Amino acid sequence: MSKMIAVTSGKGGTGKSSICAGIGYTLAKQGSRTLIIELDFGLRCIDIIFGMTNQIKYDLSDVLDGKIEALDAVTRVPMASNLFVLCAPKNPFQQVTVEQIISICRSVRKYYDYIIIDTGAGINNHVFDIVEQANLILVVTTPDPICVRDAQMMSDEFYARGNRRQRLIINKVSKKAIGAKLVRDLDEIIDTIGVQLIGVVPEDDQLLISTSKGEPLPSNAPSLAAFDAIAKRLRGENAPLTVKIG
Ligand SMILES: Nc1ncnc2c1ncn2[C@@H]1O[C@H](COP(=O)(O)OP(=O)(O)OP(=O)(O)O)[C@@H](O)[C@H]1O
Ligand SMILES: [Mg+2]
Repeated sequence: MSKMIAVTSGKGGTGKSSICAGIGYTLAKQGSRTLIIELDFGLRCIDIIFGMTNQIKYDLSDVLDGKIEALDAVTRVPMASNLFVLCAPKNPFQQVTVEQIISICRSVRKYYDYIIIDTGAGINNHVFDIVEQANLILVVTTPDPICVRDAQMMSDEFYARGNRRQRLIINKVSKKAIGAKLVRDLDEIIDTIGVQLIGVVPEDDQLLISTSKGEPLPSNAPSLAAFDAIAKRLRGENAPLTVKIG
């Protein structure tokens, strides 16, 4: 049975989709069969990140409309042999129930080691109900105080609902954003949100370039090292929490 990991954040644009792609890619490279399910209806982007827009034959709407089984609707990602995606519907108004999503996840779980769920931003019941089905919730924030506050509110709500299986990713960390007080400021963010850290991802121009071109991250990209370490930790391996920022 696969491990379901939901990637979420209070504020939009924190890097959830990039992180799903980065962690999915590195988990697959490390040998774990991985499926990314994109739940951000109308805001499909995983196909662009992986440079496979023309290869997507089916998406979640075909599954929701009963045209095809979920397992047959997934597309293999060309840049990593163990990686698969089930893209979001193009239509932002596609009707869906939480039960449908849960049933789709259940129907494919035994075929993958990891299922990563990319959610839309924001605090709404829909996201909470789906995300709560996951074995692990990755809460994504940037060092921006507004983002930190939203992540804290999101995480508190998970705790209030009894969900303690949360880990924190701090994304887009740069000298400009944090400066010389790096460790102290990261500590403050972790304390404010109250969730154990699983990784720090640097602000990385290479990520921006690669994802917009649909190409793999170059092997020396700082964000790739961060994703690789997070994937190792998710697989239960030891990976030091080093932070390299430009
Ligand atoms: N570590 C990073 N370094 C540089 N740019 C980044 C990083 N992470 C994400 N980005 C950029 O930030 C933007 C938003 O990222 P992304 O789409 O992954 O966020 P999101 O949280 O999924 O957004 P949404 O809430 O709209 O779904 C993109 O342009 C992406 O390339
Ligand atoms: Mg997104």
